[in-house]
Amino acid sequence: MRVVDLDRDMSDVIPTGMSPDSEFLFARMTEVTLWATCADPGRLILDVASGVGQDSIALVREGATVVGAEPSARMTAMAEAFGGASIQEGEARPSWVRGWADELPFGDQSFDAAFCKGAMDHFDDPESAIAEMARVTKPDGRVVLAIANFDSLACRVTRALDRFREDWLGLGPLRGRRGYDTPSDHFTRYELDLMREQAAKHVDVESVQGISIGWGLPGWATVVCRLPKPVAMVMLRGLDAIARQWPTLSDVIVVVGRPRREESTVSA
Ligand SMILES: C[S@@+](CC[C@H](N)C(=O)[O-])C[C@H]1O[C@@H](n2cnc3c(N)ncnc32)[C@H](O)[C@@H]1O
Repeated sequence: MRVVDLDRDMSDVIPTGMSPDSEFLFARMTEVTLWATCADPGRLILDVASGVGQDSIALVREGATVVGAEPSARMTAMAEAFGGASIQEGEARPSWVRGWADELPFGDQSFDAAFCKGAMDHFDDPESAIAEMARVTKPDGRVVLAIANFDSLACRVTRALDRFREDWLGLGPLRGRRGYDTPSDHFTRYELDLMREQAAKHVDVESVQGISIGWGLPGWATVVCRLPKPVAMVMLRGLDAIARQWPTLSDVIVVVGRPRREESTVSA
């Protein structure tokens, strides 16, 4: 039996007041993910786990028709309030539909693109969610998956520093929750190989792009904050360019693919 809180408030995991490195990371994650959906006017896009709906609203503004699917009534209420405040009377708005990612309430091949940003690690069955996204996307459409990499360079270096501190120097841990530990509301600890493996079962992967390097390193946010803004931006952009080439080091991974048509992804 599935026991769930359908009024779950997950707005606290969506970053608000942020340091420049966080702002850069989340802006790039959004830019790369939404761009990959090719949300031109006339296209129908699905935002899976749409949360407070900011991405659905952004795509509607680009002219696409957007459906946001989200199980939490509370998150959808926030999306409606957020949209209500930012969308003018008479302007197009997304449709909000209640639904789990692993059982999407849509027919086969309904959408031009389906994307899921920053949410798959919260799902109890992310592989079925990818299969569902592939099922509801048209054969020439795109499935876009964006997720935090818990084996990033920053995670690896921070883990090594903590081990040195604790095992060699015999000192106690510096922080409460360590950035490389999966948070309690995550069911899956994603890294590049797992992303590729899960995605490849249901989509023909076209691109795997890394975004940003260094986020979460101890002292990193302070260093970036103290640098003159133009210097900080050059540095963040430079690291982002490296992340594009070596997604295994990156803070976030975006996988884009075409739905793979197999018996398992198309219902009879
Ligand atoms: C961190 S928020 C991300 C929201 C949004 N995609 C964004 O980028 O801001 C994670 C969302 O996943 C939703 N969620 C959790 N489990 C889910 C599931 N099994 N199916 C669909 N959505 C789920 C939560 O209700 C929450 O709104």
